[in-house]
Amino acid sequence: MLPFIRSDLAQFTAYKPHPSSDTADAVTTQFDRLDTNESPYDLPPELKEKLAWTYQQVIETNRYPDGGHETLKEVIAEYVNESAALSSSSVTAANISVGNGSDELIRSLLIATCLGGEGSILVANPTFSMYGILAKTLGIPVVEVGRSEINFEIDLPAAQSAIAQTQNPPIRVVFVVHPNSPTANCLTASELDWLRSLSAEILVVIDEAYFEFSQTTLVEELLQRPNWIILRTFSKAFRLAALRVGYCVAHPEAIAILEKVRLPYNLPSFSIAAALVALQNRQLLLASISQTLTEREKLIQALSQYPALQVTASAANFIYLRVAPNSSIPQNTALQNLHQKLRQSGTLVRLLPQGLRITIGTHEENARTLNRLQAAVTNLPF
Ligand SMILES: Cc1ncc(COP(=O)(O)O)c(C=O)c1O
Repeated sequence: MLPFIRSDLAQFTAYKPHPSSDTADAVTTQFDRLDTNESPYDLPPELKEKLAWTYQQVIETNRYPDGGHETLKEVIAEYVNESAALSSSSVTAANISVGNGSDELIRSLLIATCLGGEGSILVANPTFSMYGILAKTLGIPVVEVGRSEINFEIDLPAAQSAIAQTQNPPIRVVFVVHPNSPTANCLTASELDWLRSLSAEILVVIDEAYFEFSQTTLVEELLQRPNWIILRTFSKAFRLAALRVGYCVAHPEAIAILEKVRLPYNLPSFSIAAALVALQNRQLLLASISQTLTEREKLIQALSQYPALQVTASAANFIYLRVAPNSSIPQNTALQNLHQKLRQSGTLVRLLPQGLRITIGTHEENARTLNRLQAAVTNLPF
């Protein structure tokens, strides 16, 4: 360990970026990449041409990008209102901050709330791993509670007692995902009531990365709640994962703080242009969602035929697959085998301690993956 590096970083495990590789084996197959919840559809060629034109004719690469994001924020505010069926003056540019992916906004939120020993965060596992990972890089303590194994609801008594008992530093931020990754369920009525009951000294971050698939949002309620923040991203339904654009919706005072914390030129000019083009063409881009939802239901239907597998309902563009308890082989071994067999036969999926998360791909990718899963289930000892 280098002597000048913080000692807590020695034990730290970084996020494993895509494409995942567990072994030193050469990648011999063209994988179906169903492990990172991206859209399987690239931008349509006409939009790429538009962007190429903007790059050639408008963007001056020798100049810094627009550091204020005013136009982008206005167009995002318009989309947010539309997406929640609100009047055009409900959410304005003053309610929006834009990040280099929502990952950047998560880090800014942590800096603004918990850094310097001021707070801990609460997460309910399994959930999106970056909240905990980013907190640890900043030396922020992470308090973890579990979820119901049946409907994946947060263990609310455990969460409540964690808040009551955690001191030095107290819990300042609760992160929830709506719908959750990897379990694909939306917040339940009890979870929502619990979030509403939290003290105004606790920031509630509601991550709606998969909103376009769930069509369920808390934007309207957020307008009445200054301690709530909603995160969204262009990396999923808007097909811009490569260009790293995320945004958040919050009370103007919270936005002003986030704007203080962010780097002045956090978004490249090309990414700003791409997000604008995506929003201007949202009808075209979001039209593919119905296909994804149809494919998702077909996959769930097909997988529920296998007694060895447990598949649950999904409100997102991925499904969560577990293996049924079985006396001959431990569940995590069965999952690792399944993950490995899928990988060897050409599909990458996300392996989690208690399940597999499988992104809904194109019709062809899903059909191939289903065949591979069928072969794996038939050949594995369950
Ligand atoms: C719940 C959730 N939030 C945020 C992100 C990150 O999004 P971005 O690409 O905007 O950083 C992801 C990506 O998988 C996610 O699943």
